[in-house]
Amino acid sequence: MSAPRGQFSSNIGFLMAAAGSAVGLGNIWGFPTKAAGNGGAAFVIVYLLLAFILAYPALMAELTIGRHARRNMVQALRGISTGPISRIFANLAGFGGIVVASLILSFYAIVAGWMVAYLADPFANFFGMSGATDWLTGNSTGRNLTFTAIFSGMTMLIIAAGVEKGIERWSTLLMPSLIILLLLLIIYVLTQPGAMTGLEVYLMPDFSHLSPKLLIAAMGQAFFSLSLGVGTMLIYGSYLSQQESLPRLGALVTLIDVGIAFTAGLLILPAMYVAQEAGTQIFSASGELIAGPDLILQVLPALFETMGTAGLFVAIAFFALMVIASLTSSISMLEVPVSFSIENLGVRRELATPLVGLVIFTLSSLIIFNFDSLFGLIVSISTEYGQPLLGVALCVFAGWIWHRDQLLAELKKGHENIEHTLFWKIWPWYVRIVCPLLILAAFVQSLS
Ligand code: PFF
Repeated sequence: MSAPRGQFSSNIGFLMAAAGSAVGLGNIWGFPTKAAGNGGAAFVIVYLLLAFILAYPALMAELTIGRHARRNMVQALRGISTGPISRIFANLAGFGGIVVASLILSFYAIVAGWMVAYLADPFANFFGMSGATDWLTGNSTGRNLTFTAIFSGMTMLIIAAGVEKGIERWSTLLMPSLIILLLLLIIYVLTQPGAMTGLEVYLMPDFSHLSPKLLIAAMGQAFFSLSLGVGTMLIYGSYLSQQESLPRLGALVTLIDVGIAFTAGLLILPAMYVAQEAGTQIFSASGELIAGPDLILQVLPALFETMGTAGLFVAIAFFALMVIASLTSSISMLEVPVSFSIENLGVRRELATPLVGLVIFTLSSLIIFNFDSLFGLIVSISTEYGQPLLGVALCVFAGWIWHRDQLLAELKKGHENIEHTLFWKIWPWYVRIVCPLLILAAFVQSLS
């Protein structure tokens, strides 16, 4: 007899966990910098539109399949398959999801490890440990391995504790802390000289940037940000009670994700221009705003240093925010292979978690040792190809392969009078035709 399956104890628990998965480095780092480089509010508007017309419907496909099947992605897709061909397709997509989730975690844990090191740095600084400070901010292989291991260990501890005591409890604790830290930081940064210029760059739309390239950047961002395609949302949906309305919860998750991305822009862009005012270079040699690791690991720390003692607290708050955001996302990624190992291979959670965690840590170590050749490649394979293609597969499963009656019956659970909603009238055919075509069109466009 296997252990009973975990379940979220409340809809708030689910909401915090799913929003926690969605809100991550993608929102606080990726979104604001992409907006800055792609016409400010022009990108924000396109992103908002895509989040609701494309990412939300795709999210609903995952949640609905997951809650119906109450199993991990491989078994869920097999379960709704209707013939031998769709079963092959189910295996491909199911295992594809596990592989891609693990690949994303393998690079995400490295970046999150940097955040942990930079969180430790102000403490070392405060105690005058300059040797430690140099090591923490020095980008050595040893530093990267150590902090990736620490971050992976934290992720494993939460996942080993299970759905309710691990994922739900920690997400419910960490998500409100994240919002409070974000708001405090915004209030502080907006009172600093130069902040208003940053706000302007962020909020003044420059529509000359509108192009297929911008559309694709916004779609990729929306898919990554809502954690789509790889089965994280599917597995979280599978732990959700049948008394809750899926369309409402899905919409709330999307709103929180988009809302926090937008709010993070109110922090990052003003902070960059405050840094410029304080004498830090914020443009690269080619005249573009610095957006990559240099922004988070050089520009912002340089800014915190100009702020004296207050800067120590601001640095701690900022990197704590980044670590929290990363952790609620990384646990959702690790849950994908772990739930598969528990349900398909019969391994206990306490054992499956360190085993799978170790395999992914080994992958991260390989990337660390071959950073220049592997990091960008893994990011691109998993997020630019893996996520959109798997997203199409999930929409095809929900729209074409799964029995229509079962899909509709699942939607009705927990939502009285759903037949009178716009969602009911639009989504079932939308997910069938519009979603896969839109995703594929953007994907093909991005290859050309
Ligand atoms: N949504 C996370 C972010 O925006 O940082 C990243 C992510 C989490 C991607 C979980 C994929 C995933 F399965």
